[in-house]
Amino acid sequence: MQERPKLKLITTQDGSHSLMREDLNETYHSFHGAMGESKYVFIEQGLDWRAQQGNSESLKVFEVGFGTGLNAYLAAEWAVKKEVTIEFHSVEPFPVPRELYEQFNYAQSEEGNQLLQKLHDVPWDSLQNINDHFSLVKYTSTLEEFRSSLKFDLIFFDAFAPSKQAEVWNLENLQKCFEMTNARGYLTTYCAQGQFKRNLAAAGYEVETLKGAMGKKEMVRGLKF
Ligand SMILES: C[S@@+](CC[C@H](N)C(=O)[O-])C[C@H]1O[C@@H](n2cnc3c(N)ncnc32)[C@H](O)[C@@H]1O
Repeated sequence: MQERPKLKLITTQDGSHSLMREDLNETYHSFHGAMGESKYVFIEQGLDWRAQQGNSESLKVFEVGFGTGLNAYLAAEWAVKKEVTIEFHSVEPFPVPRELYEQFNYAQSEEGNQLLQKLHDVPWDSLQNINDHFSLVKYTSTLEEFRSSLKFDLIFFDAFAPSKQAEVWNLENLQKCFEMTNARGYLTTYCAQGQFKRNLAAAGYEVETLKGAMGKKEMVRGLKF
């Protein structure tokens, strides 16, 4: 494992917090809006889309990059609101330190903030019950190192951009994701880079290019039939 990178708290244009990783000069979310991007790419085009297909069963979600926990937090709120049970698994080689996560402004209520803090506070590398509709495993691992025979219904692919971490978006990693995806499962990501889309198709997914979030032209959903 590499040395822990230096992180700085920033505020994006919709007022929600994100982090800047200084060695990569890369933010954890779109500068136009962390909350807006996560809600659109992972909740609307991920969880809501599944419900729109008529599927309201319990599901397992796998996330590449736990980071600020924003996607997990939004997914947990969604699960409670929709009364759908989610088992959420997320890999993260560099857990965010408490002095940063306790400042995050994602929650609109004290109850919401308790949920966000709980997602961060619970131990790593074991399944933790968060509430009646949401359980979580955070793995201190990269996607490359992650080994599991579990299968998932939905993958949130939320790594740093390919221009900063090309290796995470490579064919081998996407083949691993495809193997971990259930039939009729899918992957969503904010990224629509050409080489990534070719790798996604080569891994076996049917690639769907959608309108992007927060001023970005496109995003991608990969479907497994
Ligand atoms: C774009 S950020 C998004 C994180 C998170 N989903 C969020 O909303 O804050 C990418 C995350 O991937 C993590 N990461 C870096 N290298 C990785 C790897 N090889 N495998 C999995 N995650 C990685 C980073 O530490 C960072 O937390």
